[in-house]
Amino acid sequence: MNKRFQITRRSFLARCTATAAVTGLPLWFIQEQLAGAAEAHLVAPPAPSPNDRPGIALIGCGGQGCGDALNASNHGDIVAVCDVDQKHAESAAKRFANDGKTPAVYNDFRKVMQRDDVHVIVQGTPDHWHTLVNIAAAKAKKDIYGEKPLTLTIDEGKHVVKAVRDNGVVFQTGTQQRSDQKFHLACELVRNGRIGKLKQVNVFVPAGLREGPFKPVPVPDGFNWDFWLGQAPQVDYLKERCHTMFRWWFDYSGGPVTDWGAHHNDIARWAIGLDGPVAVEAKVVTGPIVGGYTTPSEFEATLSWANGVKQVVKTTPDDGWGGWVINENGQRNGVKFEGTDGWIWVNRDDIAASDKEILHTRLPDNAIRLEVSHNHMGNFFNAVHSRKDPISNIEAGHRSASVGHLIVIALRSGRKFQWDPEREIFTGDGASLGNQQLAREMRKPYDYSFVD
Ligand SMILES: NC(=O)c1ccc[n+]([C@@H]2O[C@H](COP(=O)([O-])OP(=O)(O)OC[C@H]3O[C@@H](n4cnc5c(N)ncnc54)[C@H](O)[C@@H]3O)[C@@H](O)[C@H]2O)c1
Repeated sequence: MNKRFQITRRSFLARCTATAAVTGLPLWFIQEQLAGAAEAHLVAPPAPSPNDRPGIALIGCGGQGCGDALNASNHGDIVAVCDVDQKHAESAAKRFANDGKTPAVYNDFRKVMQRDDVHVIVQGTPDHWHTLVNIAAAKAKKDIYGEKPLTLTIDEGKHVVKAVRDNGVVFQTGTQQRSDQKFHLACELVRNGRIGKLKQVNVFVPAGLREGPFKPVPVPDGFNWDFWLGQAPQVDYLKERCHTMFRWWFDYSGGPVTDWGAHHNDIARWAIGLDGPVAVEAKVVTGPIVGGYTTPSEFEATLSWANGVKQVVKTTPDDGWGGWVINENGQRNGVKFEGTDGWIWVNRDDIAASDKEILHTRLPDNAIRLEVSHNHMGNFFNAVHSRKDPISNIEAGHRSASVGHLIVIALRSGRKFQWDPEREIFTGDGASLGNQQLAREMRKPYDYSFVD
């Protein structure tokens, strides 16, 4: 054997062993993943020269948008930032100033789309703005890293999928657990029958906030409240309605099930391997306070899938760390897969199984393999250069968000529904009540014509 190869192989094995020790993942899996990554690197498109790094614009400069933009800045140059809150936009412009160049500041994202030096949109607006921003970006032929949940409604998903595909742009949904090796391993093992026939998936998400009533206060200077509200009903400004807190209001989001649920339901769906469930029912466990946040803080939902799998989605009391710490019922924020021959539990901290051989026995060469990504933003920029789909493509974003939206419809209707995942409509008893909630009336001028 050639000496150079021996050294490379030795260092490869050492790296695998070290990574396995740090991550707690099985050695065979690390070896496969790193070998796969090395191979992907060999066939990856050539890294762009400093002169053709994509120009990036950040739309929605809150906590997550800025975090995403920071990651994106490893792959391109941030040339513009946009927010309806001038303070957020200016602070992002300062933060992403580089080499004496400060990104241009905008308040209306449509103007950003007119810039020829913007190739990529990173978007971290609240959920009720995702669709119109994504459609405007797709029409302007910009590639998009768009935050989860993809949409506010199931109908919006159809519009945004069409816009992305019609315009041939690359879209990565911010469901980054697909690029986390623990979730990848769990889903791949389940897909390959390692726990026997999959019977049940339990998804635990942290309970939402239960607070209120709130008092209107004056709109802060430099904040365009009407633009922030967008398609949602016109209401008095409450600071508890907007930055960060929008997720606890049905007008802008869906509560815990579309927040953390967008991640864990995506993982459940990745392992189940189907587009959507065939039935959904849900009940409120702890309802909201009158005059306060409108999404229930605690709920429980049950979904049925065509392959016989039952999925339970429920809240686990928030411990202040996103439900990370184990509670008295042994529940945490994560996903548990139960099969006829054992179980696998996974969250962002760890992966465990009913028997250690479930994780530690190598999968056969002919096993079903899921796409590999070790870095969600990097995977997106690889796709930007190769023009291939990234790991959380637009259809995956739409279908996984739809699971949360179905639960929201069942919660708000207080009844069970049958769902046809192929036609994406409710069928059977109560179907018309469900189908009325697939779309929402969008307040003018913030309907689809806003981005025509
Ligand atoms: N992938 C993840 O792990 C993850 C984590 C947190 C949040 N998120 C998602 O990221 C999104 C943002 O969440 P956040 O917590 O950062 O919210 P945030 O409220 O802190 O930030 C949103 C920003 O968007 C701005 N904005 C609102 N409407 C706008 C518009 N029309 N044009 C331009 N800017 C607009 C707001 O003024 C605000 O600055 C949400 O959809 C959330 O679900 C994802």
